[in-house]
Amino acid sequence: MSNTASTLSSADRAAPHLISAAAPPSLRLMLALEDFEAPARRYIPRPIYGYVSGGVERNVTLNWNRSVFDDLALVPRMLINVSQRSQKTQLFGRSYDSPFGISPMGGTSLAAFQGDLALATAAATRNIPMILSGASLTPLETVRQAAPNHTWFQAYLPGETQAITELVERVAIAGYDTLVLTVDIPVGSNRENNVRNGYNAPLRPNLRLALQCLARPSWLIGTALRTYFTQGMPHFENMGKRTPLVSSTAVRERANRDHLNWEHVALMRRLWKGKLVIKGILDKRDAVIAREHGCDGIIVSNHGGRQLDSASSPLRVLPGIVAAAGDMTVMMDSGIRRGTDALKALALGAKFVFVGRPMLYAAAVAGETGVRHAIRLLHYEIDRDMAMLGANSISEISREMLMDARGLDTYGLR
Ligand code: GLV
Repeated sequence: MSNTASTLSSADRAAPHLISAAAPPSLRLMLALEDFEAPARRYIPRPIYGYVSGGVERNVTLNWNRSVFDDLALVPRMLINVSQRSQKTQLFGRSYDSPFGISPMGGTSLAAFQGDLALATAAATRNIPMILSGASLTPLETVRQAAPNHTWFQAYLPGETQAITELVERVAIAGYDTLVLTVDIPVGSNRENNVRNGYNAPLRPNLRLALQCLARPSWLIGTALRTYFTQGMPHFENMGKRTPLVSSTAVRERANRDHLNWEHVALMRRLWKGKLVIKGILDKRDAVIAREHGCDGIIVSNHGGRQLDSASSPLRVLPGIVAAAGDMTVMMDSGIRRGTDALKALALGAKFVFVGRPMLYAAAVAGETGVRHAIRLLHYEIDRDMAMLGANSISEISREMLMDARGLDTYGLR
């Protein structure tokens, strides 16, 4: 940015045309997170795009994750001097520039060249956290080294003492300070779209897959071949046995996930000295149990609508969970695309939110630069929205700013 945001007046800095002008030419019409989706669909082969974008069964939950935000209306206050506004947010002893981070996403480096690194380094540059998925293709040590102060690790674990102990030790040695355990996957979900599109993890080499990849030459050259010739065959690096990304026979370790229970969380709490976060909580009773187990935080999440179809949207259960969670940090993901979405979640009591798919689409179409731009877009949406709501800080974002859009008072707000 030649005319950097910091040299602009507080009234101008969020002007959309300036943010667009500051982006590289190819990104100037990426004006909102949703804009990355269509170019990503054109770039990524069909089975992989289907895997990333898809939900489960009838996509009821996936669709609710978006529509639920429209159930809430914002009620702004006027004539408040908001020239000093700041969205800086303290979380687990760190100060971040925005109240959002990047959700963990598996197979990221399959959709985008060195996707995990692109997401992590862009997040570090913009001073927000990025959660590396356990289903990622880059060793967790490499990503942590690239962005040591901003990367958290998210584990998929079986209910087995040895596997848990080994992983926790590995994550600690790598230098992570925040460990996230995802708990909404006791079994694989019914992702019919993956079966229909021929997606598998590992990918099974066959003529159909070859033709699907040939139909996306930019991805074939810019992501697949580039990865292969610079790094060799990618592997699932951070989840049990190292497994190649493409293989006709290899099977990823998924056994005994359905054994995982709170005793394993207690074990993790004993082993792990850093911040422990449980991701995938939707019932306030589970939030209470997480707090009783000494967890530092939870992420209220339905896994981006990818696990149990008809599972509630996090936003709907958030107020009850916040009330039950006491001093444990409550965060939320699933469906956030706009600054107003983030602010609605914060108004209902979330301390922080996470955004997934759009960041990966941005990485696919424009690498780290794309992710930096996506983060900037959401950051300035929040800045603009805070000004129009009459808020100078995130702590001023409250339920008073909300009402039920249809006058039904579902959230007990007014
Ligand atoms: C991995 O987390 C997935 O949802 O596929």
